[in-house]
Amino acid sequence: MTITQVPSAPLVAVVGATGMQGGSVVKALAESDKPYRIRGFTRNATKPASEALKKQGVEVVEISLVLDNVKEVYRAFIGANVAFLVTNFWEHIDMEKEVSEGKMLIDAAKAAGVERIVWSGLVSPTKISGGKLTHVYHFHGKSLVSEYGYASGVPFVNVQAGFYASNFLANPSMLAKQSDGTFAIAWNVKPTTVVPLIDCANDYGLYVRHVLELAVFPDGSEVYTTSEDITLQDMVRQLSEVTGKDVVFKQLTDEEFGKNFSALGLPPPVVTEMVEGFQFFDEYGYYGGQPSASREGLARPTRTWTEFAKLADWSKAFV
Ligand SMILES: NC(=O)c1ccc[n+]([C@@H]2O[C@H](COP(=O)([O-])OP(=O)(O)OC[C@H]3O[C@@H](n4cnc5c(N)ncnc54)[C@H](OP(=O)(O)O)[C@@H]3O)[C@@H](O)[C@H]2O)c1
Repeated sequence: MTITQVPSAPLVAVVGATGMQGGSVVKALAESDKPYRIRGFTRNATKPASEALKKQGVEVVEISLVLDNVKEVYRAFIGANVAFLVTNFWEHIDMEKEVSEGKMLIDAAKAAGVERIVWSGLVSPTKISGGKLTHVYHFHGKSLVSEYGYASGVPFVNVQAGFYASNFLANPSMLAKQSDGTFAIAWNVKPTTVVPLIDCANDYGLYVRHVLELAVFPDGSEVYTTSEDITLQDMVRQLSEVTGKDVVFKQLTDEEFGKNFSALGLPPPVVTEMVEGFQFFDEYGYYGGQPSASREGLARPTRTWTEFAKLADWSKAFV
């Protein structure tokens, strides 16, 4: 249950170690009875999340993983056996930047002799919709990085993150207060739409750990993570039961959904991205029709939505 410094243990370099996905990877590896050395990257090695990683035995490396720092980025992976790679589109909302930085991370890991890469990609709505939904940049860009990774020659697995359960906690627009006092999840999708919902901080890393601890690393594969596949109508029912709030699901038209996002002050391209993203979700499924991964074989059970809801702090959501 600890992270080791023993040189014989594999060294896992974790991008985003202070964030949701990378943090979850560190958590899952630290829980393993197999020994790991972990190197975590952050732009701020003294912030509380970085200090907490150091206390756990993570080697915290301060670096900004951007093209301007390419030489440093290459150095940062030296000595690592495994790389966990993720990019954060929402920091800049720029697909070209996400793609070029994702490719740079793969190149740097490869140049350092990393033996296995686990990358956090997503499917391509552009491809799956046959060119109909071409503005879901935070998905499509990641799929371009995935293609690059598969072609890199380094054993490569794409562990895709489901829709975060925590999205509902911090963002009041996700649970909008209605004039009748109810709170609504109001999306342009059907209430029967199935969400591959993930408690990212708790469960995403379980899938990464599973892949790393298989007898044979499943090079070339894709893993569609979920804590629980659940319909929106079941989500609101269970959330009402747990929180005592009156939560409903409201199916909006694309236009209504877009107007809600515009009212939050989001720029028009982001509004289009959101409308098309949820259209994709409705028509093709979050994973474009691919079934979520089996939870069998994971080191512990994932958290159900009800369990997540019971543990969560909803004070910022129901406002
Ligand atoms: N929300 C969802 O439902 C969902 C679902 C699937 C996929 N995603 C994808 O998840 C990605 C974000 O991952 P996350 O949720 O784990 O993010 P997060 O919790 O916001 O954390 C972002 C992490 O990335 C690091 N980071 C960002 N820019 C960096 C840079 N230039 N150099 C070094 N480190 C940098 C941050 O480190 P420091 O701040 O410490 O430097 C932090 O650890 C997005 O691309 C999004 O599209 C989200």
